[in-house]
Amino acid sequence: MKNIMHLNAFLIHSPMNHTVGSWTHPDSTVGSSFAQPDMWQDVARTLERGKFDAIFFADQLATYGNYRARTDEALVHAVQFPVHDPTLLIPMLATVTERLGFAVTLSATYYPPYMAVRKLSTLDHLTKGRIGWNIVTSVHIGEAHNMGWENMIAHDARYERADEYMQVCHKLWQSWEADAVVADKTSGVYVDPSKVHPINHKGKWFSCPGISPVSPSPQGYPVLFQAGASGAGRDFCAKHAEAAFGVQLTPRAMKAYADDMRARVKNLGRDPASLKFIWGIQAIVGGTEEEARRKQRDINERVPVEGGLALLSGHTSHDLSQYDLDQPVEDIEIEGIRGLFEIFTKMYQSGDLGRDRLTMREVGKIYGATIGCPQIVGTPEQVADQMEAILDETGGHGFNITPSTMPGSITEFVDTVVPVLQKRGLHRTEYTGQTLREHLRQEACA
Ligand SMILES: Cc1cc2nc3c(=O)[nH]c(=O)nc-3n(C[C@H](O)[C@H](O)[C@H](O)COP(=O)(O)O)c2cc1C
Repeated sequence: MKNIMHLNAFLIHSPMNHTVGSWTHPDSTVGSSFAQPDMWQDVARTLERGKFDAIFFADQLATYGNYRARTDEALVHAVQFPVHDPTLLIPMLATVTERLGFAVTLSATYYPPYMAVRKLSTLDHLTKGRIGWNIVTSVHIGEAHNMGWENMIAHDARYERADEYMQVCHKLWQSWEADAVVADKTSGVYVDPSKVHPINHKGKWFSCPGISPVSPSPQGYPVLFQAGASGAGRDFCAKHAEAAFGVQLTPRAMKAYADDMRARVKNLGRDPASLKFIWGIQAIVGGTEEEARRKQRDINERVPVEGGLALLSGHTSHDLSQYDLDQPVEDIEIEGIRGLFEIFTKMYQSGDLGRDRLTMREVGKIYGATIGCPQIVGTPEQVADQMEAILDETGGHGFNITPSTMPGSITEFVDTVVPVLQKRGLHRTEYTGQTLREHLRQEACA
């Protein structure tokens, strides 16, 4: 019997998800409704009906302003902007669901660890154990500026700092013994002081004497996701994450990434099976293959090249307007998400996609369409076949599915592809656990 797939919806609290221009699609209402809770609550109910593990919220802390050294393209095309705080939306989604988890991106570079632990552990209580954390080190210079920093910390130093950050977080999560809360009205003791331990952390980057301000939450700590793709990012992921979020354009590249990650995990003396691989994809479903292809063309044609390049310039902290749109893309030394940019250089050079070099125009279109998540297109059966094949080929465990239209394509996936996966025993028909960690650890249908 095969393991079940873990399914998350890969969203962002913004009028645009990961498909630039998709908010203009007739099936998308997110452009006008994203700032209110109603649409998100409907989406959460739909995903819970489809027995998804979680919503996975991306996040970022600035307007993309690298392209042409201005923010105009990002503003005009709503390139992940405006971007509202996902941690404030989550309790409103938790009240209309019972099992759906919520993985949220929080920057280890810009949130002090004490504040991150406070936010995440409070959410874990409020959701009864349904919280995950996508640990990022942040990517673009605009975020540094908005936080009052003149420069970004250099790429590898960000990861060295994040490593100490995680030590602080784990110390805070362990600063309470499980039975420290007494709450005994007779004795008048709320917390037993002998069971709470100040962490007195003093390191290279952080100083934090305190105890966690939040009593132990249902999961103890959030489920840890990570999506670093560079060498330093992969080492960090191998050490800290329970699930790696990988964006790679082909199954072969996914497998190479997973093999590399498993080797890194093993080198650390950790069981390679303890790290799950969740692949970013976009599913485009039609009643027939032709209809699905038509939908794909319609979605991709809406992607404005300059919107895609504004997004990629932001993610790479590199102004891509300086290159000729119709010349092939060369290797470029960048500061931001190295791994993502390499998708467009090394991967195409590998010949996997039948092409040697892409032009910058093509890169803008592809990146703007899905930030490099492959589009899985076809009838519900064909989409299920391809998802199954990807997991077979890569030894992966599930998918972060980014919608093409919002909320239309999510409802369509739940109504058409989920039943096919369930029929094949590849997706749960009922939740067996309460917490997000229990969902992630579930291997087979009950
Ligand atoms: C698929 C994927 C999704 C990411 N999502 C976010 C995000 O939502 N917010 C963010 O600030 N960084 C995000 N990142 C950035 C990273 O997690 C990481 O901090 C950054 O990529 C720098 O590390 P790298 O060079 O190892 O990739 C994402 C990266 C990848 C590959």
